[in-house]
Amino acid sequence: MSMNLSNILDHLRSYEDIDYDLARSMPPDFYTSEEIFNLEKERLFRSQWICLGRIDQIPNRGDYFTTVLFDEPLIIIRTTVDEIKILSNVCRHRGSVIMHGNGNRESLICPYHSWTYELDGALRNAPLVNKRPDFDPEKCGLPSFSTEVWGGFIYVNLDGAATPLSDQLSGLTTMLERHHMDDMVQRYSEESVWNCNWKCLAENFMEGYHLSSVHRETLHPVTPTRLSQHFPPGDGYFGFYSGFPEDLPQRGKYHPDLLPEDKTRSVMFAIPPFHVAGVAGHKVSYLYLRPEGVDKVRVTQGIALLEEDGADPKLQAAIDLFKRTMAEDHAQLSQVALGLKSNHLGTAPLGSKDFEAGTISDFYNFLARKLLQ
Ligand code: FES
Ligand SMILES: [Fe+2]
Repeated sequence: MSMNLSNILDHLRSYEDIDYDLARSMPPDFYTSEEIFNLEKERLFRSQWICLGRIDQIPNRGDYFTTVLFDEPLIIIRTTVDEIKILSNVCRHRGSVIMHGNGNRESLICPYHSWTYELDGALRNAPLVNKRPDFDPEKCGLPSFSTEVWGGFIYVNLDGAATPLSDQLSGLTTMLERHHMDDMVQRYSEESVWNCNWKCLAENFMEGYHLSSVHRETLHPVTPTRLSQHFPPGDGYFGFYSGFPEDLPQRGKYHPDLLPEDKTRSVMFAIPPFHVAGVAGHKVSYLYLRPEGVDKVRVTQGIALLEEDGADPKLQAAIDLFKRTMAEDHAQLSQVALGLKSNHLGTAPLGSKDFEAGTISDFYNFLARKLLQ
């Protein structure tokens, strides 16, 4: 049976207080309702910190890449050695998109009538218009968006009203500082579109319950379900440890700062709504999600390594394993997307706190805090 919006939100309200032992799944309509998706667009997508890429994708002054986030064309650009800006990629003259793809430029030139901007968005030249007495170049710069870099990842907040990301992540920063994610360099990235609700994908990445089942041949030997362990969430993050079996040979190289316990597990973390990742030793694997509809989500998957591991012979094996596991999840989530449309599905008890209820409740709690205002 399909539920109306207020019924779905009543369910979500119960997660304002987390009870891991009694946690149940949200009703299927939470994942299939256009009304919920519209509410998410209104209250979540523009108001949160959204990961767009890594700083090592734009190492030099003038390096840039472009993207479109919820109808907002953006340029992510390194303006100086130590500053990254996110600018509107819309020309202030007549609204043309200015830059495409990625590259390096000294200035940003609109293809339509050649208005030219500095790397920081200031207008440098507007041919034949700049003689007009009423023309004020100060008023014609490209607007910039709130930007923050954390762990080498670049985030944007479209509405500019979010509390600083670093404050929201302070607990996670302490947990992960020994891994030196800021110094890691992206060695693999690939984009695809999955036909499922974006929340199903985020939840799937963030629970250990399915590891020994969906990933029997791939992840179960490395990070089996039984060694999953929930850790307490913070304002802007939640996650779990995905433990390695004791007899597993050492996985790759380790930074000398790592403590013995850091070498026994991956730290799986989510910076909701759209960034999920797993850090193990010298490597971080991650997804950035971008919903394109209630049942369609664009996924960027990537791997970054500590720089000295650029020629790591195990890199290709790590990429292959990541691609296989993502393909397994994609196939599984397509089946869930079909099932969620059934009229015969309600809510169900979740697996125990360490395996499922912990992180899924934390996610629901985050969504309750943002959507129920
Ligand atoms: S729209 Fe960019 S110069 Fe005219
Ligand atoms: Fe998975």
